[in-house]
Amino acid sequence: MKKLSFIVCFAITIIVVSCSSSIKRSPNNAYMPDMAYSRAYETYADHSNLQKEGINYTNTPVAGTIARGEEFPFPYTHDAIGDTTNYSASRAAKNPFDSLSAADFKEVERLYLVNCGICHGKDLDGNGPLWKDGSGPYPAAPKNLMTLHMPDGQMFYSITYGKGQMGSYASQLNRKERWQVITYIKEKQKEQAAN
Ligand code: HEC
Repeated sequence: MKKLSFIVCFAITIIVVSCSSSIKRSPNNAYMPDMAYSRAYETYADHSNLQKEGINYTNTPVAGTIARGEEFPFPYTHDAIGDTTNYSASRAAKNPFDSLSAADFKEVERLYLVNCGICHGKDLDGNGPLWKDGSGPYPAAPKNLMTLHMPDGQMFYSITYGKGQMGSYASQLNRKERWQVITYIKEKQKEQAAN
């Protein structure tokens, strides 16, 4: 009898204790939670939930920010078709290169001849081998760069994103080279005006 009442008491105690609200159910402080709970995200997972928390994961850069190490920021993005807002606004962008050293001039001339001369001509007159007074295979007349008086920033826009029948040269020339090619064009114009 004594044994039975002991077992009953023991069972009741177990039930009371296991249902008690005094038991601590919230987790303790996590030490180094980044190690316990991985912050890594799967490459192709849906990250739209992160945006709500202000995390721009695999997203386009935040407006007004520039990439680390980028020396020549250009804040004007490519206009949508039919829009010319940024094309017009890009006139305000300043060319970081006022002039070219003799060595740079030689190298940038080479870049011009490799990338642009085929259409705009080795003399920058808009009459390269692909156009040849309209008898060449290119369907559109390249601009005569000797008589083209356009702000550097807008030229940069056109060379970066393309313009009309001309494609983008952003993958062939980096930003520094694109600005320098524009400086080269301007120096050739000045040279011609001086003669
Ligand atoms: C495949 C031929 C071709 C090549 C290569 C080419 N262009 Fe052009 N470019 C054109 C044509 C065609 C136009 C006229 C586009 C229009 O107004 O429709 C043009 C226009 C331009 C303009 C005027 C853009 C504007 O906003 O009106 C500039 C500046 C220019 N080119 C610079 C360059 C430079 C610098 C290079 C070399 C990095 C280059 N182009 C390479 C064909 C070419």
